[in-house]
Amino acid sequence: MFTMRKHVLLLYFFLYITQFNGVRADSLPVVLWHGMGDSCCFSFSLGAIKKLIENTIPGIYVYSIRLGNNEIEDVEHSYFGKVNEQVQKVCQQLIKNEHLKNGYNAIGFSQGAQLLRAVIQRCPNPPVKNFISLGGQHQGVFGLPHCGISNRIICDYINRVIKYGVYLNTVQENFIQATYWHDPYQEEEYKKKSIFLADINNERYINESYKENLQKLHAMVLVKFINDTIVWPSESELFGFYKTGQTSLIETLEQSELYRKDRLGLKKLHDTGRIHFLSVDGDHLHFTEDWFVDNIINKYLL
Ligand SMILES: *[C@@H]1O[C@H](CO)[C@@H](O)[C@H](O)[C@H]1NC(C)=O
Ligand SMILES: *[C@@H]1O[C@H](CO)[C@@H](O)[C@H](O)[C@H]1NC(C)=O
Repeated sequence: MFTMRKHVLLLYFFLYITQFNGVRADSLPVVLWHGMGDSCCFSFSLGAIKKLIENTIPGIYVYSIRLGNNEIEDVEHSYFGKVNEQVQKVCQQLIKNEHLKNGYNAIGFSQGAQLLRAVIQRCPNPPVKNFISLGGQHQGVFGLPHCGISNRIICDYINRVIKYGVYLNTVQENFIQATYWHDPYQEEEYKKKSIFLADINNERYINESYKENLQKLHAMVLVKFINDTIVWPSESELFGFYKTGQTSLIETLEQSELYRKDRLGLKKLHDTGRIHFLSVDGDHLHFTEDWFVDNIINKYLL
């Protein structure tokens, strides 16, 4: 009789918790950041991902990052603006969001992955448990063959500006893609002048707080699209890149100086089994719902 009462009480307790929070007590919220030319909420891209997560984990809270006042402005901000201010704004959004105060899992799509990594490294609160990078460019890109999903004219324009002077300060301060442009023929210029990627990769000097904050992750999940025609080189999705001075030989994360000298703490993350490398047979961000449920939701979000 006593145990029975205890169970009933427990049941009420759980019902209370569930109703009180409006979410399943054990599901950490999820934050998404979209890629270039995309927005927080298009029904054919991140809107669909948000729904898929919500349908798979009923009651979970999913927040898709938006910069600007509407979806159009959000798309614009994925091309134009000051990248470090954008990261700072997102930090403020996340700090202010009551739902996230106990932490969240972060999923970045394409360039949204390196931007979210900057959030993790610069803004440790609220804390991130698992960081999932889908086709992110963690060592940058050298080429933008098909830029974005929305506007050809914008892409041609950006390509021209980048060719004109990617490491000029005015270009760095105004074009998001320039800030993760990694020219293997100008490695020193890149390290000196890239206001974003070289900074978050601790290329100029070592910011110890970036290392410390990355070490708080339970898992860093790097997903590469094997047949990617958008990210050059696609090894950047797993922290690989061209060896300096040419564009035919690739070095992997483990072969890179960043890793060997452990400038960012990635060696330590890897040695403790927390970097997970996944590959998808397909073009950039081409994956099926089943793949996403089996490999991302069920493994990292439950
Ligand atoms: C390291 O990064 C943090 C977070 O962005 C920043 O506040 C701090 O000034 C940086 N430290 C150095 C030495 O630049
Ligand atoms: C992707 O590329 C591999 C070889 O690198 C090939 O075997 C496979 O068929 C390609 N998949 C798709 C979907 O094109």
